[in-house]
Amino acid sequence: MGTSNIADKVVVITGASSGIGASTATLLARHGAKVVLAARRKDRLDAAVQEIAAAGGQAISVAVDVTKRAEVEALIRAAVDSFGRVDVLVNNAGIMPIAPIEALKVEEWDLQIDVNIKGVLYGVAAVLPHMQKQKSGHIINLASVFGIKVFAPGGTVYCATKSAVRALTEGLRMELHAHNIRCTMVSPGAVATELPESSSEEATRKHLREFYKMAMPANAIASAIAYAIEQPADVEIDEIVIRPTAQDF
Ligand SMILES: NC(=O)c1ccc[n+]([C@@H]2O[C@H](COP(=O)([O-])OP(=O)(O)OC[C@H]3O[C@@H](n4cnc5c(N)ncnc54)[C@H](OP(=O)(O)O)[C@@H]3O)[C@@H](O)[C@H]2O)c1
Repeated sequence: MGTSNIADKVVVITGASSGIGASTATLLARHGAKVVLAARRKDRLDAAVQEIAAAGGQAISVAVDVTKRAEVEALIRAAVDSFGRVDVLVNNAGIMPIAPIEALKVEEWDLQIDVNIKGVLYGVAAVLPHMQKQKSGHIINLASVFGIKVFAPGGTVYCATKSAVRALTEGLRMELHAHNIRCTMVSPGAVATELPESSSEEATRKHLREFYKMAMPANAIASAIAYAIEQPADVEIDEIVIRPTAQDF
């Protein structure tokens, strides 16, 4: 396996059943990381774990709904039980149900806040005591270019959640450097994943599929995450913004 700074690191990835999370798990395992894949669709996770193992890598899967704090705590416990520590947490699970505010999809507003913001916070709460004890760690949060610019009508609540992830990551960085814990925010533009399918209206999904025709592949983001992890321990990559060349905002 690899000889980089990634080799032998224990990396927990939420939202690893598809898209960016799945691609990141595969890439990091190829570099010799011990990967813990988490999401709700256990069958998908198990298939990915098998593929990683067949290629000579090490991985386990844990069924987790990140909106449930106890499940996120159990995820980190499973990582520590299996591999002895957690070096990196990639808070990647996210949803993007696009709809105008006037449609009043309040349940979808709640769910975005629960997954995109509270899920990240539950990850931090679960992993922090371990990283403090280790006196080292790395928290990588997936924000979005929509955390930098607002896309409306349609993305108002999603943008607010990603803006929150941005503020949280900056605050975490300021608070956790004293514990030798690195914090990185990755803000992608359009990435070809299942994300546009999380909108509830078929017309919106169709529109998004059209928009996503210029999307970049998920491994573009996986490479950026690997880059942040492989830096020497005294070098912290704070922010990475990555767009498809063809995307104007
Ligand atoms: N694709 C883009 O254009 C883009 C751009 C900027 C930022 N991002 C961000 O990148 C991250 C990954 O998204 P993606 O594009 O790879 O989308 P994706 O293919 O839809 O993947 C989303 C992942 O999140 C998981 N997830 C959703 N709800 C969950 C929950 N309650 N508990 C646990 N896991 C949950 C899904 O797994 P299960 O359904 O199996 O639970 C899935 O593995 C998200 O935070 C997204 O906001 C994506």
